Amino acid sequence: DEYVESLNRVYEEPDRIIDVGYAQVGTESAWRLANTQSIKTAAKDFGINLIYEDGNQSQERQIEALRRFIEMEVDVIVLSPVVDSGWDEVLEEAQDAGIPVLLSDRKVSTQKDDMYMTFIGADFLEEGRRAMRWLAGTMEDPLEHVRIMEIEGTVGASPSEERSQGFQEVMQEYPNCQIVYSACGDFTYEGGKQVVEDYMASHKWDIDVIFSQNDDMALGAAEALEAHGLKPGVDVKLISVDGARSAFQALIDKRLNCVVECSPLLGPQLMKAVKDLMAGKELPLRIITDEKVYTQENAQQYIRSRKY
Ligand code: AHR
Repeated sequence: DEYVESLNRVYEEPDRIIDVGYAQVGTESAWRLANTQSIKTAAKDFGINLIYEDGNQSQERQIEALRRFIEMEVDVIVLSPVVDSGWDEVLEEAQDAGIPVLLSDRKVSTQKDDMYMTFIGADFLEEGRRAMRWLAGTMEDPLEHVRIMEIEGTVGASPSEERSQGFQEVMQEYPNCQIVYSACGDFTYEGGKQVVEDYMASHKWDIDVIFSQNDDMALGAAEALEAHGLKPGVDVKLISVDGARSAFQALIDKRLNCVVECSPLLGPQLMKAVKDLMAGKELPLRIITDEKVYTQENAQQYIRSRKY
C-alpha cells in the first residue's frame, strides 16, 4: 500500500524530480569507476536526483546507507550489493516503508523472492563459461593437462561465485584441466598481485593458466609474474573478465590472452527502469547487458571504441 501511495505522489506531481538513493560497492576496480561514472551521468541525463553512497566494500556501510535512504523517504533505492547474503532485514524495512528497490550489477539471495523489482546486470555464469570455452578452444588436444590458478573476486559476491561456477561447469568436459589453486584477490590490482606472490612464496611455479575474475587482478598478477622473470601471456596464459581499456592494451602488448567482457555502462538502462517504474510501467524481472569475448587477435580493432 505504501508503494502505491508513493507512486500516487509521483502521479500527482508529474514534474517532481525523482529521488534515487544509490548504494555503490566501492572504488575497487576500473570497472567500478566506469560504472559509477555511467550512473552519475545517466542520472543527470534523465533529470533524476541521485543520492550516491560509496560502501567502500563494506556490507555494514551499505546497510547504513540504505537505512539513511529509507529515513530520507527517497522514491527508489538502487543497491549494488558487495556480497549476496544478509540483506533480508534491511530490504524488508525498505518494503515496509513502501520504497521500491532495484538491484544493479550484483544480485542478492534473500528468503523471500519479492524483495526487489528488477536486476540489471551481466550474466556472470555465462562469463565464467565463456572464459573456459576460450581456453578449451586453444587446446590442441582435449586431453592436454592444464594446471589452472583461479584468482577470485570478493568472497560471497555474486560475480565471484557465478564466474567460478560457470568456469567449472565447462571445465568438467575437460578432465585433465584442473584448478590447482584458488585464492581471493578482492577484485583489486594489489589483491591479484598478492595471490601470485603468495603462491610463489610456497610453491615452485607450475601453473599453465591464470583465470582472473577481473582485469585489475589480472594486471596485478601479470606484474607479479614479470617480477619473477615469467612472461604473462606467453609462459602463463592469462584470462580476465571486464574489458577495461588497460586490459585491451595488455592484449595488444601480448601480456593478456583473453578478456571476457562485463559491461559497467549500466546507467542508462538503470535510469530508464527508474523512470518506467515511477510511471507505473511493469519492469522485466531481469535486464541483461550485451557482451563479447576479446583476444589478442581482435583487441586492436576494438580498443579505440572502448568507453572505459
Ligand atoms: O560486480 C562486477 C565486478 O565488480 C567486476 O567484474 C569487477 O571488476 C568489479 O569490482
